[in-house]
Amino acid sequence: MNTLFKPTHIHSKLDGSWLYLHEQMPPQKWAALPSFGTAATWLGMHHSLRRGQGELDYLSREYQQGRLLWPDYRSRLLHAAELHYGHLHGHHRLEDTHHFPQMRKLEPKLAQGFDVLDADHHHIEQQLYRIQTLLAALKQNEAANPALADKLAQAIEEGGGALYRHLADEEDLVIPILALRAE
Ligand SMILES: [Fe+2]
Ligand SMILES: [Fe+2]
Repeated sequence: MNTLFKPTHIHSKLDGSWLYLHEQMPPQKWAALPSFGTAATWLGMHHSLRRGQGELDYLSREYQQGRLLWPDYRSRLLHAAELHYGHLHGHHRLEDTHHFPQMRKLEPKLAQGFDVLDADHHHIEQQLYRIQTLLAALKQNEAANPALADKLAQAIEEGGGALYRHLADEEDLVIPILALRAE
């Protein structure tokens, strides 16, 4: 096993030996990738997903700490969640149907790595079902329901934990391929 390269995320599911492309394209170099290229575009997309997740966590916290009233919390969370989860779902669909199959061909040695990313997508999709159920309940609750807000905050936070880890693992595998092979 190659222990020369370490995954970015502390709870990464990647094996260090899959990161051999980091020799030529380590994470320290990614910020300098040309902004018009697919690698930088990919990073930008993930940045906006992290922001979307951060917004949901922020709104949950604001309500729980009494800085946001129920009607504002409810309408802002419903709006932000619809945007974020719609974006996330569309992003994963495009990766599943288009990008990942392409990259598996470009870099067959990373098949196991892409299996991890595929499994992540399934896991995140499962979490999303639960979150959507809670959001549907939030839509019904015009009167304040702090217990529901707590459940939502917890489900959203758990989803965020899985998402942040997934984005980091995906970048560790995909960004070097895009930067070195596809441009
Ligand atoms: Fe993904
Ligand atoms: Fe992605």
